[in-house]
Amino acid sequence: MSFNHPSFGQISDDRVIIFDTTLRDGEQSPGFSMNLDEKLRMARALAALGVDVIEAGFPAASEGDFESVRQIAEHVHEPVICGLARSAPRDIEAAGKAIKQAKRGRIHNFISTSPLHMKYKLKMEPERVLELIAFGNKESRRYTDDVEWSAEDGSRTEPEFLCRCVEAAIANGATTINIPDTVGFATPDEMKALFTMLKERVPGAEKVIFSTHNHNDLGLAVGNTLAALEGGARQIECTINGIGERAGNAALEEVVMALRTRHDRYGKTTGIETPRLLSVSRLLATITGFDVQPNKAIVGRNAFAHESGIHQDGILKHAGTYEIMTPESVGWTKTSLILGKHSGRAAFRDKLKALGYEDLDEETINTAFQRFKALADQKKSVYDDDVRALVDDETRDHAHISLTTLELHGGTRDAARVVLGLEVNGVPCEASAVGNGPVDAAFRAIGEAFPHEATLALFSVANVTEGTDAQARTTVRLQEGGRLVDGQGSDADTVVSAARAYIHALNKLLVKRQRGEPEELEG
Ligand code: KIV
Ligand code: ZN
Repeated sequence: MSFNHPSFGQISDDRVIIFDTTLRDGEQSPGFSMNLDEKLRMARALAALGVDVIEAGFPAASEGDFESVRQIAEHVHEPVICGLARSAPRDIEAAGKAIKQAKRGRIHNFISTSPLHMKYKLKMEPERVLELIAFGNKESRRYTDDVEWSAEDGSRTEPEFLCRCVEAAIANGATTINIPDTVGFATPDEMKALFTMLKERVPGAEKVIFSTHNHNDLGLAVGNTLAALEGGARQIECTINGIGERAGNAALEEVVMALRTRHDRYGKTTGIETPRLLSVSRLLATITGFDVQPNKAIVGRNAFAHESGIHQDGILKHAGTYEIMTPESVGWTKTSLILGKHSGRAAFRDKLKALGYEDLDEETINTAFQRFKALADQKKSVYDDDVRALVDDETRDHAHISLTTLELHGGTRDAARVVLGLEVNGVPCEASAVGNGPVDAAFRAIGEAFPHEATLALFSVANVTEGTDAQARTTVRLQEGGRLVDGQGSDADTVVSAARAYIHALNKLLVKRQRGEPEELEG
């Protein structure tokens, strides 16, 4: 059996639609906001990954959101580009205008349907909600034939009422029906039963695609997503690295690899090029400053590491003993020992390509190459992770402030003193400070050169690879009023790495201030 969809045409029953909401649900969680360039980079990487739909933002939320959805719609062509809207004329108009230039554009309108949300959040009677569902979908269809409707808090909605809502949405033009588990409350068996029930009972259900959207508050987002597929859902809403409100959304890489690895059970395919999963995950981590935890499935540093002797022995005899999928199938490269100080520019370029860095401009490649040469002089072996760390560092936003030089004086006898060379909005300046240790001195010197009110909320250092000559990767979280930003830096010198991370965070804070972004910690 196949299905005729306004954006996808005929799609066979075994094909699952991957709807990525990293740039909307993911981006709206504290600390994860991205600027326009970063969103465009992510959108291009998601398109190359093969997602079917990119939810690019919530156009009515702010001018910045509108502009990023508009630009993604204009410049990223393969996937359907989607804008989120409440069931209000202003929201739908903003979403309609933002997706106008898309080759294929979708409006995703939503309203809460659970008793709790209708009573306390919307302060509306169920009949009014039904009217707004009809309005939201009809109005959205004025802009596009591809309209998705979501029942916010759908999993906690009374089944009878949910059926009436879904019927109203379909009757008024929705072509995709999404039932979110907004608060991550449902269990897999409930999720399967919910979709089975809707498909059996709602008139017109056979004319639409059902979609599942799961939050991870109880750690069940991926399980619930797979269960929803068994109940008849055909679209999966998910995010890279599982980012999203509170505990996050279902992780794209986990759902996709579960479907691929357990094709025997689910019998479903996706359009995802799985060897790109790792590089997209890393791109997101670089842009947002949040690394995934080492034991994160698929993309965590330890996801394919076999530490115990028994496991290593098994792997050597037959990889299948302890590996259910190959590391290469998700983008890990077999050997990670790479270039030396005699490696040339061409080898460096090849390596960048193999690591998934395909959209770098010449200037970034050149400065990254110079840094690689300097690192190869300092360090015995340069690994893939070293190259990733220094390229990621080069691609971070240092539009306002950048570090040019750092000199360190200290030891057991004298207090640590750091002299910094910076460029602030294109103007070179120098600053020095004494501190309780070199990192403290470096941060104080940055404060001398660029006075600010932000306070340090988190400081952490990790090693990129093993050994005493390993590069340090530092994360700095700054707080200014209700705004929180994370910055990252890496370098073979821990103090330089820390200074870079602090400056990266300051740059992000300045972008937020300029965009007049709301303070996240309030409300
Ligand atoms: O979790 C949720 O309910 C949502 C909707 C807006 C789809 O993100
Ligand atoms: Zn959500």
